[in-house]
Amino acid sequence: MHKSLPNRAIEWRRSTLILLDQRVLPERVEFLPIKSVAATHRAIQAMAVRGAPAIGISAAFGVVLSALSHAGKNNHQARAAIEADIEYLASARPTAVNLSWALQRMQTCLHENNTQDRLAALERTALAIHEQDIAANKTMGRLGAKYIQAQSNVMTHCNAGALATGGYGTALGVIRSAFSQGKVQTVFAGETRPWWQGSRLTAWELQQEQIPVQLLCDAAAASALREHNIEWVIVGADRVAANGDVANKIGTYGLAVLARHLGKKFMVVAPGSSIDLSSPNGAAIKIEQRGAHEITQVAGKMLTARGVNAWNPVFDVTPADLIDVLVTELGVVENPDTDRIAQLFAR
Ligand code: MRU
Repeated sequence: MHKSLPNRAIEWRRSTLILLDQRVLPERVEFLPIKSVAATHRAIQAMAVRGAPAIGISAAFGVVLSALSHAGKNNHQARAAIEADIEYLASARPTAVNLSWALQRMQTCLHENNTQDRLAALERTALAIHEQDIAANKTMGRLGAKYIQAQSNVMTHCNAGALATGGYGTALGVIRSAFSQGKVQTVFAGETRPWWQGSRLTAWELQQEQIPVQLLCDAAAASALREHNIEWVIVGADRVAANGDVANKIGTYGLAVLARHLGKKFMVVAPGSSIDLSSPNGAAIKIEQRGAHEITQVAGKMLTARGVNAWNPVFDVTPADLIDVLVTELGVVENPDTDRIAQLFAR
């Protein structure tokens, strides 16, 4: 555990990446000092750091750690070794495009700088990726909050907050911003099985900010939407395809169907780094499958009879036509589709 507490869930301090270990929250607040590419890969894969923008930022600092570790090599060897590390980092998790987006930026920087400038340039780029993500979150918070009516209840899923990003949050950024304007009364947060991002992270994050939160079983979402005057369901994204289909935490698709059926609005909040124009639609997005133990066990304790099989896709795809508003830092797209998303990037 790190001795002095950093201010953020991700911090770069004296050639060390310091990550708030999200596996042990809210029971313990512990920071992991990460000093190698292998440790960065492990932290992403084991979800010590999770959330699409947060894993991209962490991987960018992983590339700086790579450059540090290969500093003794000649130009050609160092570059080849860093490229191999970039490829390795990209394999840590498949669905969030922010990971390959950030690594692509680091790779471009690697190619643009020679040996003497390389380390400083990579460090500057990773720090910029981190700062730009926070700025994007704040812009999205402001843009998204305009859609929230006074005295609203809202619903969110998973954790798309400060923990999942450089800081502030995407979906929770909009909620924070609307709350600070006095518009949000209560946030209904689904527990988000099987990893409990809602219970362990979102409820904790909102409590820290004194934003009223009601936790609910994922299965209670339909009843909550019908009974609690919830106007908006607000979620983040791991990857937005060129046509506006959105891959996000498993359960998001069900919430979008419910929202449409019950006449509620559905908002996706995601930075440009989550938009993947090379995926024409949601069918092109690889959905991460994780181990059955995440379902058959709780906190390491077996819940089911031995030998019970479980299907554990941890993301799903919400079709664009169920999304009322896509909020990005580049602008807001209502009723997203291929043309409107292309126009967003053309602006
Ligand atoms: O498996 P996770 O916890 O990394 O999944 C995170 C999500 O699905 C978030 O909703 C998404 O990354 C948006 S975070 C700003």
